[in-house]
Amino acid sequence: CGIIGCVGHDDDTLDVILDGLETLEYRGYDSAGVALAGDTIDVEKKEGRLDVLRESIDNGDATPSGPIGIGHTRWSTHGPPTDANAHPHTDESDRVAVVHNGIIENYQALRDELEADGVTFTSDTDTEVVPHLFGAFLDAGMEAEAAFRRTLDRIEGSYAIAAVVAGDDRIFATRNDSPLVLGVGDGTYYLASDVPAFLEQTRDVVYLDDGEVAVIDADGWRVADRDGDAVDKEVSTVTWSAEQTGKSGYDHYMLKEIHEQPTALRQGLSGRLDELSGRVTVEELDDVGTPETVHFVACGTSYHAALYGVELFREAGIPAQAFIASEYATGPAPVPENGLVIGVTQSGETADTLAALREAAGRGAETLALTNVVGSTVARECDHVMYIRSGPEIGVAASKTFSSQLTSLNLLVESLAGGATGDSRELVSALRDLPGDIQQVLDETTAEAVVDEYLGDDAFFFIGRGQNFPVALEGALKFKEITYEHAEGFAAGELKHGPLALVTARTPVFAVVTGNDERARKTIGNVKEVEARDAPVVAVTDGQSDVERYADHVLSIPETHPRTAPMLANVQLQLVSYHMADRLGRSIDKPRNLAKSVTVE
Ligand code: G6P
Repeated sequence: CGIIGCVGHDDDTLDVILDGLETLEYRGYDSAGVALAGDTIDVEKKEGRLDVLRESIDNGDATPSGPIGIGHTRWSTHGPPTDANAHPHTDESDRVAVVHNGIIENYQALRDELEADGVTFTSDTDTEVVPHLFGAFLDAGMEAEAAFRRTLDRIEGSYAIAAVVAGDDRIFATRNDSPLVLGVGDGTYYLASDVPAFLEQTRDVVYLDDGEVAVIDADGWRVADRDGDAVDKEVSTVTWSAEQTGKSGYDHYMLKEIHEQPTALRQGLSGRLDELSGRVTVEELDDVGTPETVHFVACGTSYHAALYGVELFREAGIPAQAFIASEYATGPAPVPENGLVIGVTQSGETADTLAALREAAGRGAETLALTNVVGSTVARECDHVMYIRSGPEIGVAASKTFSSQLTSLNLLVESLAGGATGDSRELVSALRDLPGDIQQVLDETTAEAVVDEYLGDDAFFFIGRGQNFPVALEGALKFKEITYEHAEGFAAGELKHGPLALVTARTPVFAVVTGNDERARKTIGNVKEVEARDAPVVAVTDGQSDVERYADHVLSIPETHPRTAPMLANVQLQLVSYHMADRLGRSIDKPRNLAKSVTVE
């Protein structure tokens, strides 16, 4: 979701907010809304893209006015995209309006408590608890800033929040695990999820840190910690070009999305891990029993995620199989009795996957969708749905949604067949550390330099075993999608059964080797086979085995759980593809012949 707020504009507050929302639309576009505050608060919000909101304002259906404004463009996590679920949300007396990005983990308990006190909710969102709590503290006679802080004391989760109060000339804002920046103009002040939202107005920004509370009014800005003690913040000046702004300074959306992975995963894990008990809880899966068998159906990158999911179910003792969706729909694939058919699709709209799920449902199977898009066709048609909460992805080549799918599959398998592998606690703690581990890979990667060595080579191969096999397939798919070079992924052991004939000194082999078990040792055997044919070897490894001895280059990842290691290796391979495509001057965000979501069979 995208948030914006501004003070100091008087006449054109609404335009500044709407223009800001336009630059934030990439963060979510299923509904949008604004609240303008003066003595009273005017709210206007609409399901659909920002244009729908603009139209209703231009037609004069609504004329929100006031000197202070907040706005929001939504990417649903709780509740389908509707007018009622769009932000801003208000308390019952419309004294408070709130926009929120992220997830309030304890919203159900808070909602129960507020409803018991007689509060009536008007949406299905987790956000709505915030204005009701805020309003209740105001009703109890608290000063607005103190009431805002008390509200924050009650909520748990990941969030960026901005709030206005009728008759008050300030905007209150805070963040926890969700981005929020201040813009400092000349007598005008802004806050937003991302700098481009106010870049037309000012280039001077203050980056807020988790737990900080910002207050802006027409006289200025200040930042304090949660206890109210002032924090000295540095004002920095943004120097990006206009062309780069939507990408927050990155050259491509894909690179930005690769870098967003720590945030995307935190959002996906939020409220779903209990470290003390080592238990995983996915609310959406409460009414799904442990399946006897599992079929996955999916396409492209999502199919690779499905292959990873198969391994997880098998480790948990549940037979599982992944099918390419277009093959499942037309072939006589037997639907397992008491089985579950899981459709993995980030968009939720892929025709092949929908057809396969309909076929399975027609044969009596229970269906579950794993998707990123609330209210998508797959979410509406399946018996159950789990959301990966990755946030919108603009680059055609999937990056962060793949990582979110793998993370979510761990949660899904733990939740449906929990504890079967006996090391849930280790897994839960590895998942908790995963966003930080990915950040380390992003900070320390040498992928760009490695790529330079192999510009102009004939073909690029990717190998791995076990859970690293889907990562090898995905590494090759990403590579061919955005570099247009010939790339293939193989199960490491399969190389000698054919593909080895292609291996020469001009076919670099990227070998994913994590851990130091039998699989790792056997993969190292395969590495030696290609080395003997003069192929350059790039090892993607956590350094536990001695694969580095046989490699020309090493892309390192931190040591972690065997299930999370493939995810870290995948990030290195994403960067390899990205930098090669960049060197070759390819159209990275929109590769030729490809579409983000393919709605034909
Ligand atoms: C298209 C995209 C692929 C994607 C596949 C499945 O072919 O170009 O990148 O992996 O669809 O998409 P889904 O939305 O179902 O995950």
